[in-house]
This record gives sequence, C-alpha cells and structure tokens, in this order.
Amino acid sequence: MKVPIASPVMTEKMIEAAANALRNERLTLGESVFKFEEAFARMCGTKHAISVSSGTAALQLALQANGIRAGDRVVTSAMSFVASSNSFVVFGGLPGFGDASDSDYNLDPQKLDRVIDGKTRAVMPVHLYGQPAMMDEINDISRKRKLVVIEDACQAHGALYKGKRAGNLADAGCFSFYPTKNMHVGGDGGMITTNDDKVADLCARMRHCGRKKGSNYEHDLIGYTYRLNSANAAIGIEQLKMLPEWNEKRRAAAKTYDSKLNGVGDLVLPPQPTKDIEPVFHLYTLRTKKRYELKAFLEPKGVGVGLNYEIPIHLQPAYKEKFGYKEGLLPVSERLCKEVIAIPMFADITPEQINYVVECVKEFYR
Ligand SMILES: Cc1ncc(COP(=O)(O)O)c(C=O)c1O
Repeated sequence: MKVPIASPVMTEKMIEAAANALRNERLTLGESVFKFEEAFARMCGTKHAISVSSGTAALQLALQANGIRAGDRVVTSAMSFVASSNSFVVFGGLPGFGDASDSDYNLDPQKLDRVIDGKTRAVMPVHLYGQPAMMDEINDISRKRKLVVIEDACQAHGALYKGKRAGNLADAGCFSFYPTKNMHVGGDGGMITTNDDKVADLCARMRHCGRKKGSNYEHDLIGYTYRLNSANAAIGIEQLKMLPEWNEKRRAAAKTYDSKLNGVGDLVLPPQPTKDIEPVFHLYTLRTKKRYELKAFLEPKGVGVGLNYEIPIHLQPAYKEKFGYKEGLLPVSERLCKEVIAIPMFADITPEQINYVVECVKEFYR
C-alpha cells in the first residue's frame, strides 16, 4: 500500500470552474477573484479578504500595510517554514526569534518579552500545523507595547480559537494556498484577512503595482505584482466550499491516530484540541528520539513522512550567515526540530490507510 504524506484535491468541478473563468472572465482581477475574497472573509468572520499570489506575499503586504519598514524588528517563531521570516527580511526587516512552547510548538508568550527590543514593531505568531497559537497572551503583551500583530495562518485555514477563526485574531491574518494546504488553488496563492479598511485598501493596491484608486497608470505607492489570477480564484471558491467537511475529516483522522498510537514506543502525540482551541491538523506530527530511523523504516513501506522542520529558521544557512545566529539560542525549537515527524494526513485518508500507517509504526517499535 502507498500512503502519501499529503494529497491535493483537484476535482472535475474545480477544473471546470477554472476553465469557465478562463473562458469568460478577465484573466487577472476577474469576478472570481472578488467572489473568492468575499467568501473567504465570510469564513473567517473578517470585514475584508485580499487575495495575493502566495502566503509569503500575504505576510509581506500585511506587514507593510501595517507600517512595518526596513530596520523594524518582527518577532516570530523559528519553529516554522522559512517563509514566515523571509516575508520581512526581503524588505530589510529584522528578525527576532522567540522560542516555541513545549505544549503547542507555537511562539511561547512567556519567552516573548526577552526578544522584544527597542526596534521591535510587530509580532507574528504562527499557527503551526493548524494549531492556533496562544493569541490572548500574545495580543496582551503586544498591545501593551503598541506592537502590530500579524497571524501567520498559512497552515490554519478554518482553525478556531475561543470561537473565532484564525485570521480574525489580530491586526491581519495571512494564508497560503500552496497545494499541500488544507485548501488550495491550482498552484500558488495566498490571502490576507483584516477588519481594518485602510490596511485592506493598501494591500489591494500594493498587490496591483501600487496603482492609485480608479487609475490605470498613476501609482502613488511602491507596489508589486502579487495578484491571484482569476482561474486560481475560481478553484479557490470550490475548495473553500469543501473546507469545513475536509477539516472535520482531518480532525477525525487525527483522533483515530491518537487512539491507536497512544503509548506506542517513545512517541509523543501532537498538541490536543481543547474547549478553546479547535486545530485543523494541516499536519499530524509525532515526536520521537528515533525519527530518522522511523523515516527510513516507513518510506520503503510506502508511507510518506515529513520532517517539519529539520532546521529552525535561525539556524538556516542563509540566516546564520546574515545574522550570525548560533545553536543553543532557542532550546525548545531546536529540540523540536530534532524530534518532530509528520505522518500521512489528508481529508480523504481512508481507515485502511490509517491502519496500515499505524501497523507500520508499531512494527518499527516491535
Ligand atoms: C507557516 C508558513 N508560513 C508561510 C508560508 C508561505 O506560504 P507560500 O508557500 O504560499 O508562500 C507557508 C507555506 O508554505 C507556511 O507553512
């Protein structure tokens, strides 16, 4: 049996929606783009959603629209995909990496203070693997210091924190529609969500080359070409309709894994849902001291695995070279990056596939 780590979905209905957009709409900024944005904002409960070309572009524009400039520090988690901080380092922003918490693998609010300095202007919690960060604590600390808070919700479409959706928990939220995400488009894409009219307007103009409102060739902002195209938006509309059902299925699959893998070998189960936190299991991750051995055992049996992540961002070669980071700075993030292993998780994973993965994992420990 083969069980991939992820399984992007592209139904005939989605392909037809893209074809319709290609036949009938403007290829960029066609009506599907605006319909997708309206539907996405409705899902998040935010006033606005602005589509862009990737999750990284979403983070960059959300920060810049909130006034973050070259020389400003943005505190984020090193236990994330490198794009979280690439999004501001590209325009001269300075990283400040807070350590992760052992309990949810997200930015640890208790260690946030020590990273915030006089240059810090923003905090970017990441809802890693679809698990919302401790937003109340993070927002409290940030508000006291008048810092902007931008959610990196690139892995958390539809996740709930105290009854509110990811993307509606701070000044702005940012999503990725990369093909392995809980919902995606026909390639790359992203979305910014916000309740702030001014930020929404700035993002919409910056993604469109900084055009002045209502003008074609007058530009009053330094902008980018970060638009999501109409065909991708049309696919996004169809994917978004499936998101609640898909997330429910992921949560059910996670529950099954939990019950079958609890107590096996040295495995540590992922952070668990609580009454306040409803994760969406973008990934199902385990922790073990033997992850490389487990990976080498599972892969030849057709079981896909992911090492998310192998290197915390501050120890990525590009970051060590540019900022001089050394090992030992963020002990929890560094340990997590030695222990975490993701096993197959996607909405349509079957009970047979889950059983097969579980049996292979158990065989390894036997
Ligand atoms: C946590 C996180 N942040 C940012 C990104 C960047 O998104 P994209 O690949 O769409 O630019 C991703 C996804 O790849 C991600 O997982």
